[in-house]
Amino acid sequence: MTSPLDHITDHRIIPVVVIDDAATAATLGDALVDGGLPLAEITFRTSAAPDTISTLADRGDLIVGAGTITSVSDVDAAVQAGASFLVSPGLSQAVVERAAEHNILLIPGAVTATEVQRAVEWGVRTIKFFPAETSGGIAAIRALSAPFPAVSFIPTGGVTAMNLADYLALPSVVAVGGSWMVERSLIATRNVNAMTQRTTDALRIVRA
Ligand code: 3PG
Repeated sequence: MTSPLDHITDHRIIPVVVIDDAATAATLGDALVDGGLPLAEITFRTSAAPDTISTLADRGDLIVGAGTITSVSDVDAAVQAGASFLVSPGLSQAVVERAAEHNILLIPGAVTATEVQRAVEWGVRTIKFFPAETSGGIAAIRALSAPFPAVSFIPTGGVTAMNLADYLALPSVVAVGGSWMVERSLIATRNVNAMTQRTTDALRIVRA
């Protein structure tokens, strides 16, 4: 069976979603599937997140994760909603441990050597490098990869179609995350054409 991490590393982009109304989830799902990227991280920044995760997970044609997981109760709510993987902006031992109890993949955030080392101590091997662009970007990831050759990074935060190829060219970068394909306003206005187009364009860059 293909694991959520395999799906992420195969597609190489995680669309990061902030959604205001779960009623727009179906359109979002259609755009991602039509665009060829059946994967989404639904952030726990809005109250629509759990229902959106359930709606998308129930379709069966998308891998759905939960993002902005900052507490043990977020972990429980995301698992309950049907998330297949979890993403945190930072590093919390309580969150790492709760995810392990649920046996669900958690990709926590880290940007310094100390944070990466701590994550490795806690058994983490795939890290969200967040916020990527303001934390040193490509040069910082390259520098961290020297002492931590077994760690994979998913830079997120300021990644767009403009710098996607440069990030993916780093051997330690297995995927990137970003909201540019599924901007909040495009979801809210059900602009399926724009979302599909941006997704298709992004995948063209990945494959180039
Ligand atoms: C996240 O939570 O992963 C980020 O907000 C996504 O960053 P972006 O909006 O710059 O892509």
